[in-house]
Amino acid sequence: VLGANGSAGARPAEPAEDPSKPVVRILFGTQTGTAERFSKQLGNELRSRYGDSTTVDVRDVETYKPEERLAREKLLVLCMATYGDGEPTDNAAIFYTWLLKEAEAVESGEKEPFLQGVAYAVFGLGNKQYEHFNAIGKKVFKALKSCGAAPVCRRGDGDDDGVIDDDFEKWCAELYEALDKSDLVGKRADQNGHHAAPPASAPAYQVEVLRGAEAREVPAFPSGSGKDVHSPFWARITTVRELHTSQSDRSCVHAELDVSGSGISYEAGDHVAIYARNSEAVVQQVADLLGFDLAALIKMSLPSDGSGDNGSLPPPLPGPISVRTALSYFADVLSSPHREALAALSTFAADREEAARLVLLGSPAGKAEYGEFIGKPRRSLLEVLQAFPSAKPTIGAFFGCVAPRLQPRFYSISSSPKQHPSSIHVTCAVVRDAMPTGRVHEGIASTWLKRHGSGAAVPVFVRHSHFRLPKSPATPVVMVGPGTGLAPFRGFLQERAALAASGAQLGPAHLFFGCRSRHTDYIYQQELEGHVAAGVLSDLHVAYSRDTAAKDYVQHHVERTAAALWPLIDEGGAHLYVCGDAKHMAKDVHKAFIALVQGGRGCSGTQAEGVVKELTDAGRYQRDVW
Ligand code: 2AM
Repeated sequence: VLGANGSAGARPAEPAEDPSKPVVRILFGTQTGTAERFSKQLGNELRSRYGDSTTVDVRDVETYKPEERLAREKLLVLCMATYGDGEPTDNAAIFYTWLLKEAEAVESGEKEPFLQGVAYAVFGLGNKQYEHFNAIGKKVFKALKSCGAAPVCRRGDGDDDGVIDDDFEKWCAELYEALDKSDLVGKRADQNGHHAAPPASAPAYQVEVLRGAEAREVPAFPSGSGKDVHSPFWARITTVRELHTSQSDRSCVHAELDVSGSGISYEAGDHVAIYARNSEAVVQQVADLLGFDLAALIKMSLPSDGSGDNGSLPPPLPGPISVRTALSYFADVLSSPHREALAALSTFAADREEAARLVLLGSPAGKAEYGEFIGKPRRSLLEVLQAFPSAKPTIGAFFGCVAPRLQPRFYSISSSPKQHPSSIHVTCAVVRDAMPTGRVHEGIASTWLKRHGSGAAVPVFVRHSHFRLPKSPATPVVMVGPGTGLAPFRGFLQERAALAASGAQLGPAHLFFGCRSRHTDYIYQQELEGHVAAGVLSDLHVAYSRDTAAKDYVQHHVERTAAALWPLIDEGGAHLYVCGDAKHMAKDVHKAFIALVQGGRGCSGTQAEGVVKELTDAGRYQRDVW
């Protein structure tokens, strides 16, 4: 889990399991926490359905050793999210790669189907707007089958573009029905409609308040190497500057993070994750509403009755920590609360009407009300706390089950280590959206970076990607990156400039950049033109979408440049890159590439699609999209 305190795997690795009881193993591959939330929800439901008759183990797939355990499972449930361009989440990458390799070995006859006797169920999480919708859920489902395991029910496909909680609920109902008919689980403990244990009221940490000289606050994140999620490094932000002109009504900043002294080594094309903090105003509002003392030093631990050990609670925050720090770094109060959070909140509402309304909003019966009150207006948790002033959860419950952990934000690095070995550059659009409730939603990380970033220290880590320049600088490159999609290409161009300076012969490079207007948001214009003058960039194509009556987009320029691009691809072995918006831009550019191949080769659309697929498989068409 990308636990906000980097404490993934802190849970005891191997809980003792009663060999006489069936075990349901639930594994989650999560990036932003939804698959984890669903897994825990499912775990709790199964526990209350089967009580003592069945062991339910919910865990981060990263802490699972498939080579040792998978073939011995009886029932495996996987909640697997798809991330970015059809990729597994960070915590599932090792499991996924291993499983697909095993499946390949079985499919080719190299290996016996070794999972016969294992039953499984898969719920995939994705977004239909993306081209590779639920790629990981689909591939995992198929791979398990290839290895001989037997599905207990159809694959679930959760669509985050719709109401993913509903997709999950529907799928769970099918899973329960299948399990009831199977011998994979123990005896039902709730046959009379009574749950074995009452639905968890509100799982809460135990909180110890430390006073006076007793304690010193520890940092929100221990200082680590910055090499991965488990070990963020406190980088100093040396520069923050606005990239849009004063005529722009939006903002986009260039920031530089000093990572000297860390263990970070990065490549152009990698990502950097930043743990930003909530604004002081937001922290103060939460404290005022809930009556928390921001200066108090607290220490959180799992409840001594063991109720947190079964995965119902995220790992506790580091401590001693001030309530101010805890709220700043670990509470996501600007996203919409999930149903379970509302149900938990209801148990704390002193006012009867408020409690009843929260119970309804938090229950399956209140789906329509939830949609009206939370979903449609995109009401934040903070706004909900304001709307239900009598609901005052304890600190332990607030962090345990009301506020989700604030997640790190990932950015495509916009520099090359060849020019900036100890500094990482970030190009970040400052998020500011008007919400239907009238609230202006300010992106937590981007707003913090813009307002308070300069000179501040921030926990960061690098995530390595496959988005790379060709091995040979002579290989032609075609880069498409409108808006902040330009970021990794700025790194690529720095890299090429450094290579040229050390005597390398550069192949042709086309860059397609798009912005609204040449007068407002043409970011890094001087640098790009400098690269053209220096021969680092052979062709710069800029699409201004709002300077003329008709939309002019990057894909239109790709179409117009087809005659020059085709020989580079067909004969020159060019590498193609797309970075930026996945929902519209990357799809449209993809179509433009297919049309380009079709025209160049004079083949059918289907054949052209095949060629583009071959380019992808050969690593010659890469995307960094979100
Ligand atoms: P627009 O906002 O005027 O529609 C960077 O965000 C640039 O990408 C903007 O100029 C934006 O134009 C443009 N853009 C929006 N949708 C796009 C699409 N489907 N394909 C390519 N560019 C797009």
